[in-house]
Amino acid sequence: MFKNLFMTKPIAPAGHVDAGEPFEGSLEGEASLKRTLGPTQLMMLGVGAVIGAGIFVLTGQAAAEHAGPAIMLSFVLAGIACAFAGLCYAEFAAMLPVSGSAYSYSYATLGEGVAWFIGWCLVLEYLFAASTVAVGWSGYLNAFLTNFDMALPAHLASAPFTVVDGSLVRSGTLINLPAVLIIAALSGVGYVGISQSAIVNSVIVAIKVVAILMFIAFSAKYIDVANWQPFIPENEGPGKFGTSGVVRAAAIVFFAYIGFDAVSTAAGEAKNPQRDMPIGILGSLVICTILYIVVSAVLTGIMPFQLLNTPEPVSTALDNYPSLRWLQTVVQVAAIAGLSSVILVMLMGQPRIFYTMSRDGLLPKIFGKVHPKYHTPHVSTVLVGIVAAGLAGFLPINLLGEMVSMGTLLAFSTVCAGVLILRYTRPDLPRPFRVPLAIVICPLGVIACLYLFAQPFAEHWDLLLSWIGIGVLIYAGYGYRHSKLRKKR
Ligand code: ALA
Repeated sequence: MFKNLFMTKPIAPAGHVDAGEPFEGSLEGEASLKRTLGPTQLMMLGVGAVIGAGIFVLTGQAAAEHAGPAIMLSFVLAGIACAFAGLCYAEFAAMLPVSGSAYSYSYATLGEGVAWFIGWCLVLEYLFAASTVAVGWSGYLNAFLTNFDMALPAHLASAPFTVVDGSLVRSGTLINLPAVLIIAALSGVGYVGISQSAIVNSVIVAIKVVAILMFIAFSAKYIDVANWQPFIPENEGPGKFGTSGVVRAAAIVFFAYIGFDAVSTAAGEAKNPQRDMPIGILGSLVICTILYIVVSAVLTGIMPFQLLNTPEPVSTALDNYPSLRWLQTVVQVAAIAGLSSVILVMLMGQPRIFYTMSRDGLLPKIFGKVHPKYHTPHVSTVLVGIVAAGLAGFLPINLLGEMVSMGTLLAFSTVCAGVLILRYTRPDLPRPFRVPLAIVICPLGVIACLYLFAQPFAEHWDLLLSWIGIGVLIYAGYGYRHSKLRKKR
C-alpha cells in the first residue's frame, strides 16, 4: 500500500505533443480536447484569471486593517512567492503539456498519493475560487444597481451564513442569488467550448485592463503623498500594521495572484505548449504584478487607507472626487466584467483537472467524458457549476477566500519541490524552459509559499484538515482501487 502511494506516472518527453497536433493523447474512439490556443490567448487567459476580487475587493480591507500604504510592499512579497512558483509552473507546463496542472506534475514526480492530495487542494483553488469571486461579483453588481435605486433586497443578495469568532452562524438572509446566477451562466459558456470561452474572455480582459489603466491615469494627479506617511503604520498587535501586518496582508492579497497557473490547465488545448506555456504563465504574472503595485499606490495615495475598508475599495477611493464620478461607473462596470472573466477561467480549469484525474482512474469515468461536438469535459463542467453555485449562494467571501489561498499555496509549494526532484530523478527529459538557478529558486519557492500558507492556517486549520480528511476517504474508497497506473503494474 505504502509503495503504491509513491508510484509515479511515467513521463513522455515533451516532444510527445507536437505544435499543431489536433488532440491531446486521446483514448481510441473517444472525442478529446482541441488544440486551439496561441500565446496571446494564453496570456489573456492568465490575466483573465488573475485580476479580480483580489485587487477589486480584498485590497481595501488588507490596507485598512493590516498594512496601510505598505500594501504595495505586501503585493511585492506575494508577487515574489508567485514568481518562484510561476517559474516552476513554466518549466513543468512546457515539459508536460497536459491539462492536469499541479496534479499531473506531482503524479510524475512525487507519486499517486501526493498527486491525489494536490488534485484535492486544486479543487479549493479553482472551484472555491469561482465561488469566492462570484460573491465579490454580486457585491459590485449590487453597488452598481444602487446607483439606479435598483439594488436587490439584502435577503437575496448575501450569504445566509457568516463567520463570527471562527464559527459559522446564520446571518438572517436567504441566498446570494446573483452569485448563483453568474456561476450558472458562465458554466454554460464553459460547456459550449474553450474557443468560444477564450473569445469571450479576451473581450472581458481588455475591458478590465483598460479600466484599470484609466483609473491609474485619471486618478494619479490627485495623489497626496501625505497619505503615504507613515508608509508602514506602527504595529498594533500581531498582524495589525508593522512588519507582521505587511506579511499578514501579503497572505490576503496573495489571492489576487491566484490564477496565473490556470494557463497550465489549458496546456492540452494550446497549439504549441512547449513554447507558449512559459510565455502565457510568466507574461500574465508580470503584467498583473505591475498593475497591482501601481493600483495600490494610487488607492492609498488618493484616500487615507483607513477609509478603504469597503466591498468596492477601487470605486470608494474615488468618492472624494466629484469630477471623477464617471470613472467610478467605469470602474464598477469593469469590475463586474472583470470578475466574470475570473469566474469563467476557474470554471474552465476545474473540470479539466477532474478530466485528467478521471483519465487516470482516480475519479469515476463520468468526469472524463468529452462532449462529441464541443470537445469540452461537459459533465464535469455541469457538476462543478452546481457545487460552485451552491457554495457561492450560501457562504461568505472571507471564509471562501481563505480556503482558496490555503489550497493554492499547498499546490504551489508542491510544484516548486517537484521541479527540483525531477531535475535529479529524470535529468534526461527535454526541458524547453528551465527554472534558472533551480537549486536556489525551488527551495525558496517552497519556503515562501508555506510561510504565506501558515498565516490563514493558524485560524482555519480545522476546516482545512476536514477537507483533506474527506479527500483521503474518497481516494481510499475509489481512487486507490481504480488507479489505471496501479492496474497496469
Ligand atoms: N486572482 C483572482 C482574483 O483576484 C482569483 O479574483
